[in-house]
Formats: sequence, C-alpha cells, structure tokens
Amino acid sequence: MASSAPPAPAVLAVALTVALLASSAWAAVTYDRKAVVVNGQRRILLSGSIHYPRSVPEMWPDLIQKAKDGGLDVVQTYVFWNGHEPSPGQYHFEGRYDLVHFIKLVKQAGLYVHLRIGPYVCAEWNFGGFPIWLKYVPGISFRTDNEPFKAEMQKFTTKIVQMMKSERLFEWQGGPIILSQIENEFGPLEWDQGEPAKDYASWAANMAMALNTGVPWIMCKEDDAPDPIINTCNGFYCDWFSPNKPHKPTMWTEAWTAWYTGFGIPVPHRPVEDLAYGVAKFIQKGGSFVNYYMYHGGTNFERTAGGPFIATSYDYDAPLDEYGLLREPKWGHLKELHRAIKLCEPALVAADPILSSLGNAQKASVFRSSTGACAAFLENKHKLSYARVSFNGMHYDLPPWSISILPDCKTTVFNTARVGSQISQMKMEWAGGLTWQSYNEEINSFSELESFTTVGLLEQINMTRDNTDYLWYTTYVDVAKDEQFLTSGKNPKLTVMSAGHALHVFINGQLSGTVYGSVENPKLTYTGKVKLWSGSNTISCLSIAVGLPNVGEHFETWNAGILGPVTLDGLNEGKRDLTWQKWTYQVGLKGEAMSLHSLSGSSSVEWGEPVQKQPLTWYKAFFNAPDGDEPLALDMNSMGKGQIWINGQGIGRYWPGYKASGTCGHCDYRGEYNETKCQTNCGDPSQRWYHVPRPWLNPTGNLLVIFEEWGGDPTGISMVKRTTGSVCADVSEWQPSIKNWRTKDYEKAEVHLQCDHGRKITEIKFASFGTPQGSCGNYSEGGCHAHRSYDIFKKNCINQEWCGVSVVPEAFGGDPCPGTMKRAVVEVTCS
Ligand code: GAL
Repeated sequence: MASSAPPAPAVLAVALTVALLASSAWAAVTYDRKAVVVNGQRRILLSGSIHYPRSVPEMWPDLIQKAKDGGLDVVQTYVFWNGHEPSPGQYHFEGRYDLVHFIKLVKQAGLYVHLRIGPYVCAEWNFGGFPIWLKYVPGISFRTDNEPFKAEMQKFTTKIVQMMKSERLFEWQGGPIILSQIENEFGPLEWDQGEPAKDYASWAANMAMALNTGVPWIMCKEDDAPDPIINTCNGFYCDWFSPNKPHKPTMWTEAWTAWYTGFGIPVPHRPVEDLAYGVAKFIQKGGSFVNYYMYHGGTNFERTAGGPFIATSYDYDAPLDEYGLLREPKWGHLKELHRAIKLCEPALVAADPILSSLGNAQKASVFRSSTGACAAFLENKHKLSYARVSFNGMHYDLPPWSISILPDCKTTVFNTARVGSQISQMKMEWAGGLTWQSYNEEINSFSELESFTTVGLLEQINMTRDNTDYLWYTTYVDVAKDEQFLTSGKNPKLTVMSAGHALHVFINGQLSGTVYGSVENPKLTYTGKVKLWSGSNTISCLSIAVGLPNVGEHFETWNAGILGPVTLDGLNEGKRDLTWQKWTYQVGLKGEAMSLHSLSGSSSVEWGEPVQKQPLTWYKAFFNAPDGDEPLALDMNSMGKGQIWINGQGIGRYWPGYKASGTCGHCDYRGEYNETKCQTNCGDPSQRWYHVPRPWLNPTGNLLVIFEEWGGDPTGISMVKRTTGSVCADVSEWQPSIKNWRTKDYEKAEVHLQCDHGRKITEIKFASFGTPQGSCGNYSEGGCHAHRSYDIFKKNCINQEWCGVSVVPEAFGGDPCPGTMKRAVVEVTCS
C-alpha cells in the first residue's frame, strides 16, 4: 500500500520538521491514485458538509456527534470570509464564526476536517462569501488575474492557514484537518474567460501550495487543477468522473443531498434511495472520498443568505434537518450504506474494480485484493424493473435503479433501494401565541442631514454597502392644474425599471404597488397607473435587496436598485422622463437607524395598538421560552415579507407572501434525479417556519421584533416546537442487514423503532405483517395480513424509548400467506 505519487516537497519538508522537532506520531497527509493516505493508510473517507455559521455553537457538538453516529469520518466546511473580515483588517472569529472552536469540536469527536478556504465559496451565501468592501477596492476585478484581488485573496487565505497552524489543527500537528480547498468550481469560468482565468487559477494553486499546509489541496470542478492539487467532482452523480492525472484519487466534494430553497420556488427533496445509489455507483467505480453537500444545511441567519432570493432555511433536505434533528429514513439509510462501504474498505483501497456484465442493464464490480479480501457491487441500472441475476453461482434479486453491496463477494448486506430504517414524520406543534404592539415606519420622515439629494439614479449596493436591504429613492412631480387626467380620470402610468430585487412604490405616502424579481431573473419593472393630484406629488420607491448573488464572475460589476429609466406617461406633454431629475436618497429604514430590533432601541419609541395589513410596520412582542428542549420556530404564514429579530439577533428574512410556483407531485426514486424532480410547496410559501435557536432565548421576557414591508396579520404568528409526529418502519422479510451478515443469520430481518430523546412509544397506530399498502401516515392492510400483527409490537414497544421486532412469521403468530413475500409495517406515536 505504498503511495505511488511522490509527496509534494512542501509536504515532505513539513513532515520532516515535525518528525524532527516533536518526534510526532503523525505523518503528513498524502495521496495516491487510489485514495487519500492518512497516517500511512489509504482511506475510504465519508464526509459531510456542516457550515458552522449556519447553526449556533451550542448545536455544534450534537451535529458533529450525529455525523459521527451516521458513519462519517470527515466534516467539511467552507470558511466564510465576509463573516470573518466584515471590514478590511477587522477580524471576527466569535460566536457562530468561531472557526477554531468548531474544528476543535470535530477533533474531540474523533473526526477529520476538510477545510474549504475558498475564499470564494458560492454556497448560497451572501456575495459568495466575499466581503462587500472588496467590491470597492480600487482597480479590483474578482476571480481573475487581477493584482488587487489576488492580494486580498492571498492575505485572507494566509491568515486562515496561519491560524490553523498556530492552533495546531493540521493533521501532522495532531489536529483534524486532512484536506484543504482553494477557489471553488473555477473550471466553468476558466472555460469562459480563457487566458487571464488560466493565469489566475495557476496563481491560486501556487499561492496555496506555498502556504505549506502539509495536507493536500483540492480544487473542485477544475479540470485544469495543476499538480499536485487534486481536481474533484461536484454533482448529483459523479460516477462519470476521473481526476486529471492517473496518480490522483477519485474524489467527490459535493454529493448534493438535494438542493437549496429559494423564495418563490418549490422546495426540493432527494429520495435517499437515489442518493445512496449515486454514492454506491461512485464507490463501485473506484471513488474513495464522498462528501455530502449538505449533511446539515442549517439556517441563513441575519442577512447571510445569498441570492437573490435564497431562502432563510438552508435545510437542503439533508440527513440532519435544519433544526439538527435526524431526517429519517435519510440519515439511517445512509448510515447503513456507510457501514456496508466500510466493510468493503480493505478490498476497495487495495484493488481496482473488475467489471462483468450480469444482463442488459446489470453489472458486477468486484474488488479483490492480493491478500484475499473481496467486495462486490451488483448494479441494476434499469429504471423500472427488478432483475434476478446470477453472480458467483448464486442468485440475487436487484430492485430497479439500485446497487447491492456484498463485502465478502457473497452476502448482500445492503441494497440502496431497500430502506429498512425508520421513517420519522416531523410536525410543528403550537407552542404559544404572542401579544403585539406596532410602530409605523414613516415615509419621507428623514431630515436633510440623514438624506442625500442628487441628479439622476444611483446604484443601490454602492449606496448601502450592504449594511441594509433598503434604499429609498424619492422624487417630486409637479402636476399643473390644466393636466387633462385631473378631469378625465385617466391616470398617468408610472414605469420604474430596476436591477432588483424587490420594490414598493408609494405615491403621496400610499402604497401603490409592489414588484419583485425571481431566482432566475432579479430584474424588475414596475408599471402602474398612479393617482396624482394637482401641485407637488411625492414618488417614494423603497428598493430592496434580497441577498447578493453568490455565483458567477466579475462580482465588481453586479448592481441592484433603480437604475432607470423612470417615466411618467399620460400627461399633456405625453411622456415625462424622471430619470434625470433630482432624487433624494435615504439608506436604510428609520427603524433600523433607531435599532428598533434591539432592547434599548425598541424602548426608545412609543409603540401602539397592533395594526394589521399595513405596509412598513414594525411589530414587537415579549414572550417566555416554551418549556422542553425541542427546537423552536416561528410560524409566519400570515405575514408578507420582512425580517425577524429575537433579543437583537437576526433570525433572517421571511417571505411567505411569495408563493412557490413550479411542478410538484408524486416522487419516484427511480431514474435520474435533478433539483426539480421531487418538489413540494407548490402554491404555498416556499418557507413558512423560521428557526429560533433556543440558546438565543432567556427563560422569560424575550423580545421579538418584526419588520413587515407589505402588510400582514401578526395575530396569526405563533411559536411552534418541532417534534416527531409518527414513527414508521417498513421492513421486508429479506431485508439485507449488516447485523445478519455478522451473525451469519441471513434470514432474520428486524424492525427498529426509536423515539426522540426522553420520549416513549405510547401507541401502535398501525401494524401489519403481510402485504400492507400506503406510506407512513396512511398505511392500510393488504390482501395478506397476520391477525396478530399488533401483539408483538404492543409487547415489545409500548412504554419503550426503543424497540426491535424480528420480521419472521413466528413473531406474528404464524405465516398468513406462505409463498408470498411479506413485510412488517408499523406506525407508532412517541410522546
Ligand atoms: C455548487 C457550489 C456550492 C453550492 C452548490 C449548490 O456548485 O460549489 O457552493 O452553491 O453548488 O448548493
């Protein structure tokens, strides 16, 4: 198992120094054509993305432990530059941005870290992780061969590497970091831009290498990654992928567990059968590193969501849900997959697969080591039909679109399409209403000192420097007494063209219309008949940014806000162009200037009786923390669009008023997945619930502040707890299982049920051994049903936090239909 690739000189030098100075037990991390080599061992590494600022530090130990329990070896995270360097040279590594603490927790749990420094990260994160001040560095051009950009990128990357070194966090120092990343998916840009992009990519590679991290660097989606940097794959499937040199291992840095949620688009889900199939396909082809993007997606708190229109929830349908709870059966099925893969590890790292055909759409990939280890993957890629294949003289039944894993080349311990793990149905349980007061955000209440007047239209991000979503554009229109529309009633038409992302138009203080772009196109045009009076009229436009773009090139060129033209049509003179008249600008809201979201700010003004359906309204309520330890959320269904703060902390943007449009419906795991395949929420808000981290709450007297732009009904807002509704399982008699493999007791499949911590099974809602139908929440008996199906579950499970039942006829009082393949299906309540 000697590594065939010569380690980079830098890597060697570092290893040598360490060996000499500390006679440390750790060697540099290297790689060869088969795998990443840690401590001299080739490893099959299973990894999951958990982004530290997308949860609160109090959640980190539990998330990391659940990743470990789920069978992962590595936690992968990006490093979020704009969170760490909010203004040039001013660094922030506290709270949710305490990177070192996060990495140390991963180490404590005994896992490795893959640190994707970027520092461009994409990640549906505001501005792709770039600090906004970078856009205003003179002469800057992003992600290309540009000196000012490269200087800042190098400075930050170096800062992070030095910090990791001084905290002794690289593997050769006894730390957990085994891999790093520079840039992110630069390949497609290089393709577009040619020479300057190529120069930049090789500069980035050299710059990274010179930092002597002692661990391999990777560049994801970058076919040109220069040696010794490893190019890796990102995608829904990566079994087509090979690295650019034969001496590099085959690595998958982003196995997408589903996709992100955007305001106005349906919510994506990826069936675990298909995800497991994708991963097994990659391993079967010789891949040795798989990272789930995301393993825990979490929440885009405050204004960290990228955009435009990335939702506050970054749940991603990940194995750990937004709240950090296990998503079942996804988490459990992947855990079983990981156990099966790990049983194959000795054969996988030692040999290349030998393929043989088992049928038209069926094949075997066999890994056989010289020491006798043998592992086989049997694949049926047919999208519809089961296949019965024969392999090594035995018969195997393969469900459609699936792979069976045989760690001894004989026994199926896992099939990607046979989900034996429990299914948990989550629910949002009412946990308290709120008593509101409101405060009106006045329009045009600014003093001359607070505002700024000039001729023409100004770009929004330049004005706000992204300190706020909001920029007021105000202008005045004089209407002469003899304007015909004053008597004809044919109101003139106002047209406002904006680069995005949302806009409320007020005429003489009244909301006259709202427009917004979409995930596909942030640009928007307002057109509407407006009611003007004779004399001076005020046109006030509140332009709103909804997260800055996170993907693309030349970030320095991106714009938002009203760039014009702005015209008024239907006057005696015809069309009047307002673009080049005087406009008055106000950055942010009055309420923001007064810090109404904070305890001190909110007590500095008089709040009144709560109003409803009124645009531009601040609401506040005090509440006590609901009892228990379940995760909490706010149900915002009755509201339009705005932002939420609790005890001064930003929960994020909410926008239930933007209903998801797209195609939803039945979801079949079989066949190629893409992000629009298994969607929900069509016609409903893309995001209704907003995570409230418990650690942000005091036992009593918590301040909740909301700014509503459109007008909503705050009496409809409630606090909810996220709990498990029903727990189900659906296990067939011949469910493959690792437990069976170990005991060589092949026949015995088992149902396992587990309640959340501290809860017990109180009710068996449904049980059937036979041929039941339906899915969790609406099962029914089929043609074959054992009459004593309930008894064994009652006996083994009631009042237990956990229980197991063997799926054998004897357990259910005998075989109800000999010769038919039966399943045990059960639904229980935990309380
Ligand atoms: C990838 C990118 C990630 C993330 C993902 C979509 O292309 O590398 O950062 O944006 O797409 O969720």
